[in-house]
Amino acid sequence: MINLHGKTAFITGSSRGIGQQIAIGLAQQGCNIIVHGRSLESCAKTLDLLQNFPVSKYHVYGELSDQEQVRDLIKQVKALPDQVDVLYNNAAIMSPYRKDIWSHTWEDWSRSFEVNVFAMYELCKAFLPAMIDRKFGRVINLTSGITHEPELAPYGATKWAVNKLTDDISSKLEGTGVRINTLDPGWLRTDLGGEYASNPVEAVLPGALEPALVEDDGANGQLFSALR
Ligand SMILES: NC(=O)c1ccc[n+]([C@@H]2O[C@H](COP(=O)([O-])OP(=O)(O)OC[C@H]3O[C@@H](n4cnc5c(N)ncnc54)[C@H](OP(=O)(O)O)[C@@H]3O)[C@@H](O)[C@H]2O)c1
Repeated sequence: MINLHGKTAFITGSSRGIGQQIAIGLAQQGCNIIVHGRSLESCAKTLDLLQNFPVSKYHVYGELSDQEQVRDLIKQVKALPDQVDVLYNNAAIMSPYRKDIWSHTWEDWSRSFEVNVFAMYELCKAFLPAMIDRKFGRVINLTSGITHEPELAPYGATKWAVNKLTDDISSKLEGTGVRINTLDPGWLRTDLGGEYASNPVEAVLPGALEPALVEDDGANGQLFSALR
């Protein structure tokens, strides 16, 4: 396991839920934290939870279905005094209602792919090359064990795309000191996971940190599961 003390992590969707737990877990490791939500106000709770950790804390905002806002988000992050060493592509959306397999709309599909896949790709594109130049980086893309649930087909398909894209990118990282992996957090009680999920959100720690702690020549293009 590597030491993340003094490194900086950007965690999308860290204003609540799993991203918020990851932010706390990384701050416990001495890692500086860039919190993200759709508004600066939505980041307040996480910043409050981080206040006693002796690390730098920043907050940025942006709607990930909007290309201009994603560009602006990248600018906000690049304007910070720290560079991104660890990127958790955590934010994602699921249609609010489960639908019959033939009821998903064009809008359901496009918005799901914009937030869960297109934005993830743009953020990898924005931060991975600089990680390669610095010979250090960890990228963790949140996936899901969802299977045989056509009622959530757009969400499930985006997670398949996340796995595929992660695998493709990983093939370019041998010998670079940069690692990219997927993380299945398990079924957790969050706004997305719902109240009937089997586990409290806090159960995502410490497992969710494992892909950030792999060695420079460690796992790459692999699936990590946060729950034991
Ligand atoms: N919970 C589970 O059981 C479970 C299971 C498998 C995989 N996952 C994955 O784990 C990750 C985190 O899930 P979660 O359960 O923590 O979700 P969540 O509680 O719904 O939190 C979502 C986070 O993403 C942000 N977000 C939502 N829509 C956004 C948008 N359109 N643009 C920008 N940011 C947006 C939210 O920010 P705001 O504060 O601005 O709303 C919030 O910080 C996701 O990738 C999810 O697919 C979760």
